[in-house]
Amino acid sequence: MTAVLTARDLTRHYQVSRGLFKGHALVRALNGVSFELEAGKTLAVVGESGCGKSTLARALTLIEEPTAGSLQIAGTEVNGASKAERKQLRRDVQMVFQSPYASLNPRQKIGDQLAEPLLINTSLSKAERREKVQAMMQQVGLRPEHYQRYPHMFSGGQRQRIALARAMMLQPKVLVADEPTSALDVSIQAQVLNLFMDLQKEFNTAYVFISHNLAVVRHVADQVLVMYLGRPAEMGPKQDIYDRPLHPYTQALLSATPAIHPDPLKPKIRITGELPNPLNPPDGCAFHKRCPYATERCGKEVPAFRQVGTRQVACHYAEQFL
Ligand SMILES: Nc1ncnc2c1ncn2[C@@H]1O[C@H](COP(=O)(O)OP(=O)(O)O)[C@@H](O)[C@H]1O
Ligand code: SF4
Ligand SMILES: [Mg+2]
Repeated sequence: MTAVLTARDLTRHYQVSRGLFKGHALVRALNGVSFELEAGKTLAVVGESGCGKSTLARALTLIEEPTAGSLQIAGTEVNGASKAERKQLRRDVQMVFQSPYASLNPRQKIGDQLAEPLLINTSLSKAERREKVQAMMQQVGLRPEHYQRYPHMFSGGQRQRIALARAMMLQPKVLVADEPTSALDVSIQAQVLNLFMDLQKEFNTAYVFISHNLAVVRHVADQVLVMYLGRPAEMGPKQDIYDRPLHPYTQALLSATPAIHPDPLKPKIRITGELPNPLNPPDGCAFHKRCPYATERCGKEVPAFRQVGTRQVACHYAEQFL
């Protein structure tokens, strides 16, 4: 299988003002993220707020240019792509946001909003567009009469179904979903997650599914990427990450996730202390001030993100957790 999405050392820095007379500082929001994703598979990206998940989403969806690194979508290198190629790439990669209001126009009937991508990108007739919209509406659990309604007439869960339907209208190769269920009631989350899974099966779309919660992505992920302060901490097959997390940060995230069958033999790790200031990250391992296993070395030497067994881990002592 060939990858439909390949990121190599993807990096995005922001220059921010420190305040009057204090000059500028650099936020390393995204610092060297690499992965490959195949059609029909899901990469879940997980980490605390501020670790760079949305920055990654914006880079993958061409909303923002990366500062460095390369990105290939369906075999086309984004860096240096022609105008025509970019237009095609924008079709190939779609995004669903946490708030569906970010993707839906409050003043347009939802049927027309779903038809819009077809109007812009295809030569289908009005009747054909309508037919496709109605088929998609049915697929995401909406009724034909919903065509004439406006976004505010729907519940949060339904609005996220509409946003997903809109993103899928042109059958993109890649869908990036940034915390798509975080604003929904827990009772609705599972239904919306199931809908994501159903559509993926139907269209063989590759998903980058972003969440701050490891429990949410457990059922949707194939691969999991855990990020900490803009850098990858651990990446690997879902089962391995959940069964035996190697990075102490992944261990702590999983400890904080309520388990259905808690294992009394597994030690609980609690993350203490605040997330470091991204303008002034600690030397060495970015996690060392919060890590229960930190040694002197950890405060000095940045751990390389390296292969350990079936996955990659950025911890000096990852082998010891195997
Ligand atoms: N446009 C921007 N300008 C300056 N800093 C930004 C900008 N966007 C994000 N950041 C910073 O980059 C870091 C990562 O942010 P973000 O990608 O939104 O994280 P997450 O989605 O994981 O919460 C944060 O420290 C945030 O403050
Ligand atoms: S390198 Fe050190 S501080 Fe960082 S996660 Fe590993 S043990 Fe903890
Ligand atoms: Mg975010």
